[in-house]
Amino acid sequence: VIRRVTAPDIRAKKGGDKIVSLTCYHAHTARLVDPHMDFLLVGDSLGMVMHGLETTVPVPLDMMIMHGAAVVRGSRHALVVVDMPFGSYEESPAVAFRNAARIMKETGCGAVKLEGGARMAETVAFLTQRGIPVMAHIGLTPQSVNMMGGFKTQGRRQEEWAAIEADAAAVAEAGAFSVVLEGMAELLAAKITRAVPIPTIGIGASAECDGQILVLEDMLGLSPTVPKFVKKFAELGAAIEDAVKDYATEVRARQFPAKDHVYAMAKPADEKPRV
Ligand code: KIV
Ligand code: NA
Repeated sequence: VIRRVTAPDIRAKKGGDKIVSLTCYHAHTARLVDPHMDFLLVGDSLGMVMHGLETTVPVPLDMMIMHGAAVVRGSRHALVVVDMPFGSYEESPAVAFRNAARIMKETGCGAVKLEGGARMAETVAFLTQRGIPVMAHIGLTPQSVNMMGGFKTQGRRQEEWAAIEADAAAVAEAGAFSVVLEGMAELLAAKITRAVPIPTIGIGASAECDGQILVLEDMLGLSPTVPKFVKKFAELGAAIEDAVKDYATEVRARQFPAKDHVYAMAKPADEKPRV
């Protein structure tokens, strides 16, 4: 039996090997990505990437659960972390626990992630003391887009640092097993990574973090536009367009389907189930 990576395994990597992760929203991509990752994040970015939403704010809990369950079914090695969507945890620790427990029971994931630092510390403690490992997420927190007035890089001015450093310290103190640093100046990410006892997972936060995460579709070249911090490791969007064009051309030219793709009538002797 292969034992999955656990939240404590991730926590124990602080200061050791880099932690590697990607977002994942489906069973079939999970199968491909899982063997190479420490954890898979079913991020609420799936609302934008998969469902065409403008922001993550409208993402419903049921959407997270449906994709979370698919990723758990498609993987067996990596820890699966599922994002708590906007509106499912901010109101109170009790509401957060109820919804996080639903996510864990209905998906089989090993941890949840929620956005916010000092203001969410009480909730992080409430969940972690009751059996739910929590990954925190600070810096650029996309669910606060309407308060920030856009997706804005954090900590590029020294006067912003103290609040973000306090956020990191608060979630670590509250029991989070790791913390995502998103969209943050390199020097601040480095300082936080040195200061907190839990691993920092960077996205747009430099190589100074203990680990890295990217949105899978962004690094595969499937997203129409990507932020500066993304490196495209493939151009799958172009590959899909080429394949689709070839298919259309061949159907119109009556080249596809060809002999190989067509069923002949069964001979009585070799009647077998179709494969
Ligand atoms: O939803 C998401 O994709 C995230 C990131 C950390 C990648 O929260
Ligand atoms: Na997210």
